[in-house]
Amino acid sequence: MLKVEEQQPITFSSALLEKFDEIVKRYPTGKQKSALLPLLHLVQAEYGWTSVPAMDQVAEYLGIEPIEVYEVASFYTMYFLQPKGKYVLEVCRTGPCCLVGAEKIMAHIEKKLGVKEGEVTADGQFSWRGVECLAACGFAPVLQIGPEYTFYENLTEQSVDELIENLKNKI
Ligand code: FES
Repeated sequence: MLKVEEQQPITFSSALLEKFDEIVKRYPTGKQKSALLPLLHLVQAEYGWTSVPAMDQVAEYLGIEPIEVYEVASFYTMYFLQPKGKYVLEVCRTGPCCLVGAEKIMAHIEKKLGVKEGEVTADGQFSWRGVECLAACGFAPVLQIGPEYTFYENLTEQSVDELIENLKNKI
């Protein structure tokens, strides 16, 4: 885990700030905080994750307190508060998936990728984490891979191996 004091200061590019302006214009005057979610998506698309310095900059831009950004970014799991791989394997770890082997699948992914939950492989390509119910319980165990959030169902160790190899071949 990257500590806050290790996170690099950020200065947003003028191109990114122009995109911010475009989004904020969609909201009534004084309601610029409503643009927070799309702004955080833009930040994450630009930097790969949502660091504290980036969130502080967003707060400054919107004229709100940093804590107002932190509480939103930490509530929604689509914002990554630590560096992530290009491909993030998100394995459902809720009850029904665990009953049919989700924990075994997570242990297998950890071994296969050689990184613990939340860590990034040395080549920057992969990370993984457990998430709550992905609403595909009838096809458990299940994982999704962002940023497109493609679903992979009825997982086995073998199908996970194939999935990872296919992704490696795309790189
Ligand atoms: Fe895994 Fe619902 S419990 S998808």
